[in-house]
Amino acid sequence: GAAELGPYRHYMQKEIFEQPRAIADTLEGVEGIVPELFGDGAYRVFQDIDSVLILACGTSYYSGCAAKYWLESIAKIPTQVEVASEYRYRDSVPSPKTLVVTITQSGETADTLAALRHAQGLGMTQTLTICNVATSAMVRECKLAYITRAGVEIGVASTKAFTTQLAGLFLLTLALAQAKGRLSEEDEAAHLKAMRHLPAALQAVLALEPQVISWAEDFAKMENALFLGRGLHYPIALEGALKLKEISYIHAEAYPAGELKHGPLALVTSAMPVVTVAPNDALLEKLKSNMQEVRARGGVLYVLADADSHIDSSEGVHVIRMPEHYGALSPLLHVVPLQLLAYHTAVARGTDVDKPRNLAKSVTVE
Ligand code: G6P
Repeated sequence: GAAELGPYRHYMQKEIFEQPRAIADTLEGVEGIVPELFGDGAYRVFQDIDSVLILACGTSYYSGCAAKYWLESIAKIPTQVEVASEYRYRDSVPSPKTLVVTITQSGETADTLAALRHAQGLGMTQTLTICNVATSAMVRECKLAYITRAGVEIGVASTKAFTTQLAGLFLLTLALAQAKGRLSEEDEAAHLKAMRHLPAALQAVLALEPQVISWAEDFAKMENALFLGRGLHYPIALEGALKLKEISYIHAEAYPAGELKHGPLALVTSAMPVVTVAPNDALLEKLKSNMQEVRARGGVLYVLADADSHIDSSEGVHVIRMPEHYGALSPLLHVVPLQLLAYHTAVARGTDVDKPRNLAKSVTVE
């Protein structure tokens, strides 16, 4: 009801603004990195496994795509991420030493549950879920679990569930690294410090809303949009495009920026805005040259940069500067302006933001 919405117009907006609290709750009680955060017996499981297979759908699949970068770079564990509905219907090569990780807000998505059971049927008994509902079928059926504390999510387009999943997956990365003897005490302390600062960092990003609203005024007039990211931020570009198409019905696609020249550049005109997630990381210089390719074809850029990115607004280049540079946890912050962009674009177009056409919050049938 209206009372629950408080100052917000829609549940989605409220849920976007709840993210600092949701992340704080999800990390509450985490004093140090120990495998037991994931349940009794987790240490044995984490020592035994030599690879990870992530299974999920929709937005939860994209959080898995981001986690792959963490798992391989920080924990050094080979990781595959697969859409649950594909995995269950193909021949794959099972390994009993693979940790099967499902990611699901509801814990009831039919395809994800079926994919878990399929993996179990193939002899993969080491299972773990990152889930937002402690009483769900998924939590019952997996050996290990981390329960995110996003709270009830009502908007069909997932927001706070996504960022809390990322927090849980980052903890999983650290716990696996620790069980494998690959996490120094110094690194553990530094990661924990960065995680504890996330609620404040998210609050500072939410304060960018007025700037995002001015981008949304432009986007509301468009029928297509392209999202670019590289590395860890490619999954964030995918999630930004998904949010925009789900609720504003604008056709949006995401590409890893290096693929631009292999196809999507042919579509770039002034009618195709290009959103670029551009934190100052190892790939920034390459990303800048991708951006010049867009400008040279008359494309208009909307860039999420951070203080050290040295990208300034100019003709055809609109920059929103992120308050802080955040290293490995940067995806949790960069997704927020993209959630707000989709939200305000949809509001400007007058769509039913919390209940987009043809979509359901939880898909419990195949
Ligand atoms: C539906 C929802 C999405 C969600 C997906 C997976 O498609 O509309 O927002 O990401 O299901 O849901 P799950 O509960 O498994 O995370």
